[in-house]
Amino acid sequence: MTSETKFSPGLEGVVACETRLSHVDGEAGKLIFSGHNAVDLAENKTVEEVWFLLRHNRLPDAKELKAFRAKVEEAGKLTEDEVKIALKLRVGEPLSAFRSILSAIASHRKLKPWLNRDMSEIDEEILALSALAPQIVEVIHKGKRPIRKARNNGYAERYLWGINGRRPDAEAVQAVETYLILTMDHGMNASTFSARVTASTGADVGAAITTGIGTLSGPLHGGAPGPVLDMLDGIGEADKAEQWVEDQLTGGRRIMGFGHRVYRTDDPRALTLRRVAEHQSGFRVDLAREVEKAVLDKLSERQKAKAARLGVAVRPLRVNVEFWTAVVLEHAGIPRELFSSTFCTSRIIGWGEHVREQIGNNKLFRPLSEYTGPDVE
Ligand SMILES: CC(C)(COP(=O)(O)OP(=O)(O)OC[C@H]1O[C@@H](n2cnc3c(N)ncnc32)[C@H](O)[C@@H]1OP(=O)(O)O)[C@@H](O)C(=O)NCCC(=O)NCCS
Repeated sequence: MTSETKFSPGLEGVVACETRLSHVDGEAGKLIFSGHNAVDLAENKTVEEVWFLLRHNRLPDAKELKAFRAKVEEAGKLTEDEVKIALKLRVGEPLSAFRSILSAIASHRKLKPWLNRDMSEIDEEILALSALAPQIVEVIHKGKRPIRKARNNGYAERYLWGINGRRPDAEAVQAVETYLILTMDHGMNASTFSARVTASTGADVGAAITTGIGTLSGPLHGGAPGPVLDMLDGIGEADKAEQWVEDQLTGGRRIMGFGHRVYRTDDPRALTLRRVAEHQSGFRVDLAREVEKAVLDKLSERQKAKAARLGVAVRPLRVNVEFWTAVVLEHAGIPRELFSSTFCTSRIIGWGEHVREQIGNNKLFRPLSEYTGPDVE
């Protein structure tokens, strides 16, 4: 390392890529997707419209949207062979099964390293892998071939329909659609970064997306909403929240659904999903509100005390997207063991677009490391 290069644990504060896809303004609590406020998109658009926006850097007109929706639906159908592969590999935790199935399908499709190949071919491979997510989750969950979803209203509805086994009601679809859009992309998060790193080696796009799934599975990234429900179950009643939180923090444990690497104010996705949850008025909303308040109070107390002790600025810890996700997805009828796979069903779209962007202007990722071992004797 030269004298100018400095080790940054977790690459915190390091700019690793340029992207036109999304921007997280952690100070202002703002999330932008290709020049649009992500919250506005989530409240007013469909998954396919936002997917098109990321892909083409503009929203589609009605004709383009119709064509894109049809293309995504067609690309999203598993072949007979792929259904058999999925049925064989649907073992263990659903997101691990998802990872294995996607990887196996990419091999089965004989995807080749992208280097020195025609970009239009690679574009199709990426779209096709991302579009498969709803049917992959359906096979993992149901253990049988996907059912027909006649005259469905798009990606979000097909996803929920596959899980519930019947046409879902419009309110549940709207809630899930909002969630899927809000979580579709998020700057240089860990899984997106890892997908781009794999793509940067020239590997096939299946390898890049499979990498993203592996990275997403950790509880510090995409695995938190299931444990959030476990936490709400564990607390049980609102008046027990404060003591429960105190016990967790005293025990040195992390509270799932709180804290974020980039946001220093409210995560706009969490605020939007809280509104969705309040609108759904499910049985957990009141408890969730009380728990959120108790956690925020305690975390703020601790962070202030720590900052005073160390003589540094207070680092605020706020609610993140995973907390209210848990409440919204449960109310929409998605079982908690599928929460991470649901996250994957939206983020896989973002990974695909980042992989395209990486390929379009590639530079192999190869950071340095600081050697801390002994010198040669
Ligand atoms: C998301 C997360 C990994 C971001 O972490 P980060 O920016 O790297 O911050 P750090 O892990 O360095 O934590 C900074 C400090 O805040 C504390 N902290 C952060 N999140 C916390 C949480 N949810 N509960 C309790 N303490 C927390 C850490 O213990 C640490 O304290 P210390 O300096 O005394 O050791 C972290 O906030 C976390 O673990 N959250 C819980 C898991 C979660 O909700 N994940 C989903 C993210 S969308």
